[in-house]
Amino acid sequence: MSAAYPALRLRRTRASAWSRRLHAETVLTPADLIWPLFVTEGDAGPIAALPGVLRWSIAGIVERAREARDLGIPVLALFPNTPPALRSDDGREAFNPDNLMCRTIRAIKDAVPDIGILTDVALDPYTAHGHDGIVDDAGYVTNDVTSDTLVRQALVQAAAGSDIVAPSDMMDGRVGAIRTALERDGHVNVQIMAYAAKYASAFYGPFRDAVGTRGLLKGDKTTYQMDPANAEEALREVALDLAEGADSVMVKPGLPYLDVIARVKAAFEVPVFAYQVSGEYAMIEAAVAVGAGDRDALVLETLMAFKRAGCSGVLTYHAAHAARLLGA
Ligand code: PBG
Repeated sequence: MSAAYPALRLRRTRASAWSRRLHAETVLTPADLIWPLFVTEGDAGPIAALPGVLRWSIAGIVERAREARDLGIPVLALFPNTPPALRSDDGREAFNPDNLMCRTIRAIKDAVPDIGILTDVALDPYTAHGHDGIVDDAGYVTNDVTSDTLVRQALVQAAAGSDIVAPSDMMDGRVGAIRTALERDGHVNVQIMAYAAKYASAFYGPFRDAVGTRGLLKGDKTTYQMDPANAEEALREVALDLAEGADSVMVKPGLPYLDVIARVKAAFEVPVFAYQVSGEYAMIEAAVAVGAGDRDALVLETLMAFKRAGCSGVLTYHAAHAARLLGA
């Protein structure tokens, strides 16, 4: 039994900056950050719903890779804006070994070999209907046919040099299928970060603008992404992905799901990552724009919250800004 007031005054250890530093239970460093970046054919351009975030050309992405390395950010997460002419019902551009994604990976690996590359495995940037998988005649996103395509997509990404493939599609069984194929083809050190608990969320809107799917998407993603009402189900998703060979798991979106992060960490004791998604970024920027908060403080506080909840790291569009604040 510990002492009580006045023998114990919890403000004592907060009374000076050095003591607050000494007693910090959680640390945030640039090594905790994953920087999501959008790539496009041709020239860079802005994304209306994501002020301050651009779609980069391949050359621009390579510059960002240098910047990230110099800031101490360990890994980039890449998302392509596929030209409309290359989008199709079955999303076959996803496994073209010379697609925008693969060319971007190779360009980064040539120029900045010591930075990690994480690539999204899902069909939405490649399908004409904007869904993450292949849709059948009844409009249902089919599981097993989609999974076969995801395996092919993961393999071309790995062959191009991706270090972490991150299936974000929420098909059942795809982690195991991808792991088996990676092993078979000799990619034994390519990691899988499973988007294990990915919710059907209203916070993805700006991302869909960025990759050009917002106008295409028919219906919603509720037959494959999770119901925001559920947390036990998230634990089952995580258990399955780990059993299938995931090296780490992700919870997405971030801040509204800190309870899920904490429960996953407590239950499994494995590396857990959070995705502070596009709508969360946009909310912070909107708050800053109306003078409701200070950007630097909001960014650092939200990122620290993920670490406190148990995350090994966070995907955030504020990664470079945060790394600069943290003084890499
Ligand atoms: C799609 C994917 C999405 C995000 C990452 N991968 C959107 C979606 O599921 O519709 C969202 C990321 C963000 O909002 O920042 N596979």
